[in-house]
Amino acid sequence: MAKMWTGVTNGVTDKLADDFNSSISFDSKMFKEDIEGSIAHASMLAKQNIISESEKDCLIDRLCSILEDLKSGKLSIDQSAEDIHMFVEQVLTERVGETGKKLHTARSRNDQVALDFRMYVKNEISKIVSLIKSVLSSLTEQAEENASTIMPGYTHLQRAQPITFGHHLLAYAMMLIRDIDRFNDCYKRTNVSPIGSCALAGTTYNTDRFYEASLLGFDGVCKNSLDGVSDRDFTVEFISCCSTLMMHLSRLSEEIILWSSWEFKFIELSTDYTTGSSIMPQKKNPDMAELIRGKTGRVYGDLMGILTTLKGLPLAYNKDMQEDKEGLFDASETVKACLSILAPMLKTMKAIPENMLLAAQKGFINATDLADYLVKKGLPFRTAYKISGSIVSDCIKNNTVLEKLPLDKYKEYSELFENDLYQEIDLLTCVEKRVSYGGTSVSSVNGQIKFVKEYLQNV
Ligand code: ARG
Repeated sequence: MAKMWTGVTNGVTDKLADDFNSSISFDSKMFKEDIEGSIAHASMLAKQNIISESEKDCLIDRLCSILEDLKSGKLSIDQSAEDIHMFVEQVLTERVGETGKKLHTARSRNDQVALDFRMYVKNEISKIVSLIKSVLSSLTEQAEENASTIMPGYTHLQRAQPITFGHHLLAYAMMLIRDIDRFNDCYKRTNVSPIGSCALAGTTYNTDRFYEASLLGFDGVCKNSLDGVSDRDFTVEFISCCSTLMMHLSRLSEEIILWSSWEFKFIELSTDYTTGSSIMPQKKNPDMAELIRGKTGRVYGDLMGILTTLKGLPLAYNKDMQEDKEGLFDASETVKACLSILAPMLKTMKAIPENMLLAAQKGFINATDLADYLVKKGLPFRTAYKISGSIVSDCIKNNTVLEKLPLDKYKEYSELFENDLYQEIDLLTCVEKRVSYGGTSVSSVNGQIKFVKEYLQNV
């Protein structure tokens, strides 16, 4: 097939080589960015008198019509084209004639692809941030409803201390807030325009890179043309943000899976987000949560992929860099799909406070509070800890719990025990006493909810 780049080559390549070289099957995703970039380029060229006003008007008019036709489906993408940039330029030249050939003045596909990709990533960041916000809303809603729902808090997956379900959910809200901050930070570095770097060395034309960047909503321009065409840090950073986010979603999913098991039964997922079994009629499987957990692996793979692709590339552009797109598209689509399913799944999930309380009542999760009781009566913590431990061992032996052990039994361990100990080891009291900043007390949980709500309004 004949090419637009018939320089010293005759532009004829083997069909297999064409297919191997082509990126249109995936980079056509960026058709909108490519055309918007070209519209800005035409405007800059005219402002700098590199093309005439009427040439610019003609180019922009046809570029807009190509965009419309692609959106409506009137024009379909020619899969035999080399990439989206070549395809758009080819259609433009067909529609405009000779003037179409002027558009590529003072630019190269190297800065063009870097530009399109940055524009694409910027849009994806905005979409992802708004999806994270909807998951945050679901979490906050559930946290509000469960601000005083007692459950066991765990370490090593062993019951540790009583907390509230609201407090537990808000831990994830804090992670997601950091994720939004990370994406917004990545946005700042992505929001720098490479266009005008041209092939690698800049250009002899009197271009205005700043004007072109501002037309496209960029904050500034890359300061070094070699860096402009070879920098894919924003890709690494974006997929890294996706990976950290997925790690958080996966941990939450894992808990959802555990909580909805019969062993826990702390929550019940809506049937909209579970599946049945083809053989076991009693089954209600948390497939969506499992898939989120599972898809985390592929996003990590995308990150490893781009890091490895870029490693060792000499400056400036190398065709290896065409491999930057599929991994990023995959990571982004995966993250969006996971967030889209997680938001309604969390919103419709039902907490089962009775079961959480039942679990909290077993496992001696108020043993620390028993020790603290003695400390407040004057014993050093280590001594109190020892006494409390012996009482727990005794309870285990006699198959009872701290709340049910009579006072005279307690007195055998320490004369400091009085009737008020029962109040102190009451689970709700244990929670309410944890008023330290960020602790699990209801007032602290309410403070956290307020913080998340304000964040959502201002971000
Ligand atoms: N399709 C290419 C890519 O995605 C566009 C850049 C091609 N540049 C070049 N000099 N061949 O990276």
